[in-house]
Amino acid sequence: MKCKGICNDYKATKPSGKKGRYESGQRRCNICEVFIMHDGPNCPCCKMKLRTKPRTRSGKERLNNAVKITEKMTICADAPLTTKTDVVYNRPTMDWGLANRLASIIKPEDNRALMLAVDHGYFLGPTERLEVPRDVIVPLLDYCDSLMLTRGVQRTSVPPTTQTPIVLRVSGGSSIIGEDLSKEDITVSIQDAIRLNASALAISIFVGSKYEYQTIVNLGKLVSQAQEYNIPVLAVTAVGKELGKDARYLSLACRIAAEQGAHIVKTYYCEGFEKVTGSCPVPIIVAGGKKIPEIDALDLTYKSICGGAVGVDMGRNIWQSDHPVPMLRAVRSIVHGTNNTDQAHTLYQKLVKEERNHT
Ligand code: R5P
Repeated sequence: MKCKGICNDYKATKPSGKKGRYESGQRRCNICEVFIMHDGPNCPCCKMKLRTKPRTRSGKERLNNAVKITEKMTICADAPLTTKTDVVYNRPTMDWGLANRLASIIKPEDNRALMLAVDHGYFLGPTERLEVPRDVIVPLLDYCDSLMLTRGVQRTSVPPTTQTPIVLRVSGGSSIIGEDLSKEDITVSIQDAIRLNASALAISIFVGSKYEYQTIVNLGKLVSQAQEYNIPVLAVTAVGKELGKDARYLSLACRIAAEQGAHIVKTYYCEGFEKVTGSCPVPIIVAGGKKIPEIDALDLTYKSICGGAVGVDMGRNIWQSDHPVPMLRAVRSIVHGTNNTDQAHTLYQKLVKEERNHT
């Protein structure tokens, strides 16, 4: 959709009385960025659906934030700021395959991403409520944009007919009972990732930990290998027990990941999160962390989006909930919809009721 200048013929002037523009029957086109007098539902110039009433406060907050993100990430000089679709895949320098894979993870329609994380077993073994991965994954597949997992779970527990893009974890080597969790290496070859039709590869880096050097070098190596096949890399900024999750540390970790060439960085939400997103030149996605009450996990999602994240990569707060599908749908209503925390929680409660009525 593009402004062709036709809207000038319909341009409305500011009403002189007490009535506002919308009250006076004017409609706004967000592509042409004008108020017009027109009866039809779509703009006569660019065909965009016309706005008939002012945005709510939360809508304004989200729009401002989205424009900020777009401003930060736009590389294409003439990309319009009113659309939020130019963050990663319209870069003129990005090859088609890379742009296409990224677009399957960060959705072009709204520049947001909802990733479901089920990779926990790679160091935790049979994590609580993820003991039988297939039972957890299948009902949720339709409500997430992408699925983050290991190749073992992909091959055994995900129907190959799925259209949900795969973010394949390719790092590992330590366990929760082992010497040091940061002692990770690349565990999957690029050939196997291609065989599994991965849309992106995920690897952890442990900044400030004993094996920091090895994990950061591994990230760089993985980006070099993946770049040959136009596969994007998601860097997971893993935080050891001894390290705080404050903005200073997370900014450091995220920026280092981006400097190594990661296309997306996963990190944690924290106070002053804008500092983290503001100093990282690639999109940031937020991990859910330990199970917390549903309303708090929804609030975390809302604050992350408002703080400049493109979305969440959530695991335990979805499938350790008593109601995983309603919870994922409520998170979705924030990431891809216009819901704030309370609205999303109301939706969650409504979906839980509906679920109960069907069982
Ligand atoms: C950590 O082991 C994994 O990378 C998880 O995918 C990540 O922590 C997100 O899952 P959760 O929302 O459960 O923290």
